[in-house]
Amino acid sequence: MKILGSFIYILLQHISFKKIKIGQTTLLFFIFFISINGVKTQTTYTIYSPDQRLKLEIHRDITGTIQYEVAFKGNKVIKPSSFGFKLNKPLAEINKFTILHSDTSAHDEYWQPVWGEVSKIRNQYNQIKLQLQDIKKTGILINVVYVVYNDGVAFRYEFPNQPNNKHFIIQEEETQFALTSDHKAFWIPGDYDTNEYLYNTTSLKNIDAIRAAKNEKDIAVQSLIGPNAVQTPLMLKTKENIYINIHEAALVNYAAMHLNLDKKTLTFTSHLVPDAVGNKGYLETPAKSPWRTIIISDKATDILASKTILNLNEPSKIKNTEWIKPQKFIGIWWEMHIGKGSWDMASGKHAANTENVKKYIDFAAKYKFDGVLVEGWNQGWEDWFGNWKEDVFDFVTPYPDYDIKNVTDYAKRKGTKIIMHHETSGSATNYERRLDDAFKYMKSLGINTVKTGYVGKIIPRGEHHDGQWMNNHYIRVAEKAAAHDIMVEAHEPSRPTGLHRTYPNWLANEAARGNEFNNAPTLGITPEHQTILPFTRLMGGPMDFTPGMFHFKLNQFDPARKTAVRTTLCKQLALYVTMYSPLQMAGDLPENYELYPDAFQFIVDVPVDWDDTKIIEAEPGDYITIARKEKNTGRWFIGGITDENARISNFTLNFLDKNKTYIATLYKDGMNAHWDHRPEDYIIEKKVVDNNTVLEINLAEGGGFAISIKENNE
Ligand code: NOJ
Ligand code: CA
Repeated sequence: MKILGSFIYILLQHISFKKIKIGQTTLLFFIFFISINGVKTQTTYTIYSPDQRLKLEIHRDITGTIQYEVAFKGNKVIKPSSFGFKLNKPLAEINKFTILHSDTSAHDEYWQPVWGEVSKIRNQYNQIKLQLQDIKKTGILINVVYVVYNDGVAFRYEFPNQPNNKHFIIQEEETQFALTSDHKAFWIPGDYDTNEYLYNTTSLKNIDAIRAAKNEKDIAVQSLIGPNAVQTPLMLKTKENIYINIHEAALVNYAAMHLNLDKKTLTFTSHLVPDAVGNKGYLETPAKSPWRTIIISDKATDILASKTILNLNEPSKIKNTEWIKPQKFIGIWWEMHIGKGSWDMASGKHAANTENVKKYIDFAAKYKFDGVLVEGWNQGWEDWFGNWKEDVFDFVTPYPDYDIKNVTDYAKRKGTKIIMHHETSGSATNYERRLDDAFKYMKSLGINTVKTGYVGKIIPRGEHHDGQWMNNHYIRVAEKAAAHDIMVEAHEPSRPTGLHRTYPNWLANEAARGNEFNNAPTLGITPEHQTILPFTRLMGGPMDFTPGMFHFKLNQFDPARKTAVRTTLCKQLALYVTMYSPLQMAGDLPENYELYPDAFQFIVDVPVDWDDTKIIEAEPGDYITIARKEKNTGRWFIGGITDENARISNFTLNFLDKNKTYIATLYKDGMNAHWDHRPEDYIIEKKVVDNNTVLEINLAEGGGFAISIKENNE
């Protein structure tokens, strides 16, 4: 007792306290030391968000463990959570550190994205950088950079240049996210190769990724991690109604991060995707990890409005961006999925033939679509999938019934463009070998947008879709495309992390369960799915969800099919607003659109680039209503969706300019609409509105609404 008493006395003798003031901002940083005989043993750094609602504390204990914890408005959100690395080269485990130095700073700037949900973005945060050294024999230097935004916290590891430790092989990164209680979680199974799962909503303790994945019969390649492993973006909601989203930003030269839950402590630990020999990352100093992001708010709408992940990515590497254009397109695509045509020629139903493509071009020209995606144009589809075959497509040889020059010239005359399709069937090596020729070929035809695809097991064999090698591949493709002034969207890549800030020609990705899964026999898409995606997958960037289905029972060409689109028609319209992307497809067939020309008008009118966005109301798994202002026109578009429950959406148009009147066109579920029976029941109504107008709109089960608003005198 006496010894303890004098120990405490010594500590108290050496406590020092530092308050840092930067510019006009005070009370943002605190440092608290405890030292014995001049040696710092325990240190706590405290950093607040610019609005002081979020507090990040970083603590080094007497053994050298570094932990961070996060509180929102005084309530703990993340409990003390540590980090460390297991290395294969040098063979070491580093998780105890000496703090060599700390640096704090405050940042505030605005920037303009090339395209986006808003035309101006504020990047405001407070930062602390700790320079650390492994206490044990490796002496490895690591910096951890922590940033605190008004809507979240992020941190990343930097391995500075250090002559004695030049090359590393990571066996595992062990970053913890310790949660405070058994929150509600919106999750998909952790998987190295696919993110095309349906979302599960359970408490943390009820996560069972293996059981959930067993129900998924329609996913081509699955590489599960274990029962407690889930993917990011992971959306959580506490019993106190705090929303938490865990993900990563700027995934460059690193494996994607999945999360493994310890159900006893409710702590997630990072689990990186391995390569073909089981290693998880090859780094050469100077190197850095992606940011680990935790977006936090007591308003679900703030989560959807967050720009933190985008802000954490590097500015555009492309200097001249004038050629990069958001686009709305149609395609030779759904007709293959639903059995009207096929990709290959041998079946006798080849859809990508000159005559058929010209019909789509006519349709695109009539309704002013920017592009026509043509899948199945190139030879190889007779044997493209399932055999882990390296040489499938050469990306420059059209089928003989597809006169590509004739078609691209025709498209040009009609004022639209062909969008090229490069299905790699997972053979990234083959694609990389042929990429230069493929892009030159596109350019020679005047084609400047490509949809890539990675269906199947990856080659180099043993690599995974989400591993370091493939993450670098996706970036190599975006960079090479930029060198040819080509825009890209990828299907089946790892999920995005905001890299579209750095590569704005990389317009969108699939990387989740998109509309095409309505045609998958086992689980398909449930009505709540689209109310979860913006809180999960879309946190990292735009999704090519391919909305716009107007025909709901998918036995139109194949009477045996039992699959169906489980939304109303109006919900399909709303998705153009709620599911943000600068690249939006009108997914259905021209003949299906022509049956409902008045409803199709919304798809014709809705833009793909915005000056402003207001998230009006949102609850993951239940509903979302968003208003967006078209770039440069002053027109507004609103989309509202619900899950399997009918609801009434009630809101004021207070974002419209004061003292102006507008004409609103409302596309609403009809009296008898329901996703299962009468999905195509809708009403269109026009009314004069202003910024005091309150709208009350009924949404059917699985329903939605869309509104376009333009000035009265336009
Ligand atoms: C899967 C893609 O998601 C889909 O859009 C495409 O049509 C097929 N692969 C064929 O490449
Ligand atoms: Ca897909």
